Amino acid sequence: MSLSDTLFGFVVDFLIWCGQTNSAGLDYESCPTMEECENNAVDSFWRMASITYAQHSSGVIHVLLNGSAEGGAYPVKGFFADYEIPNLQKDKISKIVIWVVDDIQGPDRDSCGKNTVKILEDRLKTLGYDVTCTDNYKPVVFLLCVDYPDDSNCILSSRDTDCLKIWESFKYAFIYKNPCNTTAEDYQPLMELAGHPIPCNKSLFWSKTNDLAHRYTKSSHSFLTLEDSLLGYIFDGVSWCGDPSAPGINYESCPKRSECESNPVSVFWKTASKRFAEAACGVVQVMLNGSIEAGAFRSSSIFGSIEVFNLNPNKVSEIQIWLMHDIGGPQSESCSGHSIQRLKRILEERNFTITCEDNYRPVQLLQCVRNPDHQDCRLCPSSMETP
Ligand SMILES: *[C@@H]1O[C@H](CO)[C@@H](O)[C@H](O)[C@H]1NC(C)=O
Ligand SMILES: *[C@@H]1O[C@H](CO)[C@@H](O)[C@H](O)[C@H]1NC(C)=O
Ligand SMILES: *[C@@H]1O[C@H](CO)[C@@H](O)[C@H](O)[C@H]1NC(C)=O
Ligand SMILES: *[C@@H]1O[C@H](CO)[C@@H](O)[C@H](O)[C@H]1NC(C)=O
Ligand SMILES: *[C@@H]1O[C@H](CO)[C@@H](O)[C@H](O)[C@H]1NC(C)=O
Repeated sequence: MSLSDTLFGFVVDFLIWCGQTNSAGLDYESCPTMEECENNAVDSFWRMASITYAQHSSGVIHVLLNGSAEGGAYPVKGFFADYEIPNLQKDKISKIVIWVVDDIQGPDRDSCGKNTVKILEDRLKTLGYDVTCTDNYKPVVFLLCVDYPDDSNCILSSRDTDCLKIWESFKYAFIYKNPCNTTAEDYQPLMELAGHPIPCNKSLFWSKTNDLAHRYTKSSHSFLTLEDSLLGYIFDGVSWCGDPSAPGINYESCPKRSECESNPVSVFWKTASKRFAEAACGVVQVMLNGSIEAGAFRSSSIFGSIEVFNLNPNKVSEIQIWLMHDIGGPQSESCSGHSIQRLKRILEERNFTITCEDNYRPVQLLQCVRNPDHQDCRLCPSSMETP
């Protein structure tokens, strides 16, 4: 996953992103309305930065600018300047916060109060907005660092207290501890420090659809999985454990899940999954795999054993299941299948409203990118059948 995906996924809900000097990135001609883009799975982030978006923005608005961009961070001609700024609704906006972030290892071409950023600040102030500007805002830089762990700006040193604190609270969870005796409490400090809210209607749960679910969140930016959240992103694919004797960390081998349930990695994911489910609100999505012979819903999965039971019926208005089949693969189960019915019963007993859709089209289009010639991937399958 690249930096931009993380950033966009992480902050997409309240952010206007600027700084792509490539004018093709600002080309809206091919994508005129939100409706027409809705079903375009390989959709660009720029959809978010639409006139509609500007009109609906309210409260504090964040503008992220690329301080390393050639020609300046604020493109004085472009979609943001020409369409979005004029469409902001002044009575709805309490403040505009500008973040100018330089690429790690990139040039510092622009900063607050200088060059094109000053032009933007002056323009917004003239329009009567309350404007603040911060260079290299830490949480954003921290996300950039995920792609450059060895850069001197990213080394966990005492200069960088946020990163240091995350590292310290992470170590606290397992260092010098028995690797089979990890508890959720061990991770509490880390979760408090690095957890962040997920906007309503944005949570995507998945089971046995890891690759597809993440290709989808990367391309559509409409939803976030646990792995797209800051904590999930940092620790995805990583393994660690402690050792009661010095140096306190076992670099050689860690217990597998089959050896002991309470190993540090399993407990981390269980704790993070529980929190991710507890935090979900509004309409939540679940992507399941309808090509699994044993059934799409499994009670032993993280989704089936933890997430389902930690969704909060007072916060979640609806659960939408997308049951995806492999293109050309077995259709082991549809929405009326046994395991889906079992899941529905569990959720309905907990007072949730459930819907289920076979092969949700925007996601299927993404599967079709890799299977363009398959008959399920014809653009208009139904019209082929009518004479
Ligand atoms: C910032 O701009 C530079 C130069 O145009 C570009 O190479 C870089 O990818 C941009 N950074 C981000 C985060 O988009
Ligand atoms: C596991 O942790 C519990 C509670 O912290 C403690 O009572 C117990 O002795 C520990 N077991 C081992 C084998 O370290
Ligand atoms: C979430 O979706 C529901 C139904 O589509 C909608 O009524 C609600 O306003 C949405 N909430 C947010 C925060 O977008
Ligand atoms: C469904 O599961 C099978 C077996 O694990 C896997 O090969 C396939 O890629 C999965 N399909 C989707 C849509 O994730
Ligand atoms: C579901 O709703 C009913 C009626 O509002 C209520 O009596 C029941 O306790 C709720 N069940 C759960 C698990 O919240």
